[in-house]
Amino acid sequence: MRGIVLAGGSGTRLQPATAAVSKQLLPVYDKPMVYYPLSVLLLAAIRDVLLISTPADLPLFERLLGDGSAFGIDLCYAEQAEPRGLAEAFLIGRQFLGGEPACLVLGDNIFHGHQLSTTLQAEVAALAPEAGARHGCTLFGYTVADPQRYGVAELDSDGTITSIEEKPASPRSRLAVTGVYMYDGTAPERAATLKPSARHELEITDLNLTYVAEGRARLVRFGRGMAWLDTGTHDSLLEAATYVQVLEHRQGEQIACLEEIAFRQGWLSVDELARMAAAMGSSGYGDHLRRLAAAPPPVA
Ligand code: DAU
Repeated sequence: MRGIVLAGGSGTRLQPATAAVSKQLLPVYDKPMVYYPLSVLLLAAIRDVLLISTPADLPLFERLLGDGSAFGIDLCYAEQAEPRGLAEAFLIGRQFLGGEPACLVLGDNIFHGHQLSTTLQAEVAALAPEAGARHGCTLFGYTVADPQRYGVAELDSDGTITSIEEKPASPRSRLAVTGVYMYDGTAPERAATLKPSARHELEITDLNLTYVAEGRARLVRFGRGMAWLDTGTHDSLLEAATYVQVLEHRQGEQIACLEEIAFRQGWLSVDELARMAAAMGSSGYGDHLRRLAAAPPPVA
């Protein structure tokens, strides 16, 4: 499976914080926001990644993340000229995907919790062509207090998705569709058939509905022990930062430390980890890497 991080958009709800820099480059406590969605792909063991952003912001992402080798991945970049909707990622990424299954993660979504990696890897495996699964897309649901801000799924008693509505005024459930999506190889051709919505966007919900209509959309629920954090407003951004701060202080660990995940996946050697650590300044993140390199944990 190949991964796409969609990190464009205009960030209007966070202005003026986003007037000069992309939302996904703003810090969430101690690291840029984009580290968190990237960590989701790494935890899913996805190593071929395309990052899509605006023409103005793309060079900044390249400066930050380079070719991905520091995290044991192959990272390439593509522009989205205008924010024409999330599903456009599959038109922009069509060649990159080359007919392979894809995992799209939104550049402003933060996921954290026990068994996240196991859950993601199981769903990646299930969508591999040789697995012969009946479903063609996997969505991840999460119960929220304010469903009207999201795509909202309704399930029947068997857990089958019966509807998904984008930002409904009267939601039929509190089950939001989160910003990580997995698809079989047909997502780009499906995206090519979509028409822009009333807000002039190619909606990811409309792409998902093509699978729902065929009875081929699977929904995996993230339970209450998982955190799916919003970064859409100044308040939610601050809350997300506080969440990261509290856990990192309590555990003495790092959330979304890309080099650490790569090392634990066996993609970086101890020597490479030590080199990354030495190059990093004396931040909490850098100190964490140096501790790891000095006393490496067993590789998974
Ligand atoms: O966060 C999950 C939600 O994401 C889903 O529940 C919704 O179904 C889905 O439509 C989406 O809703 P949002 O209103 O949160 O999407 P937003 O327009 O804020 O875009 C999400 C991210 O994608 C944001 O970081 C900006 C970026 N983006 C957005 C658009 C429309 C792009 O890079 N390009 C775009 O064209």
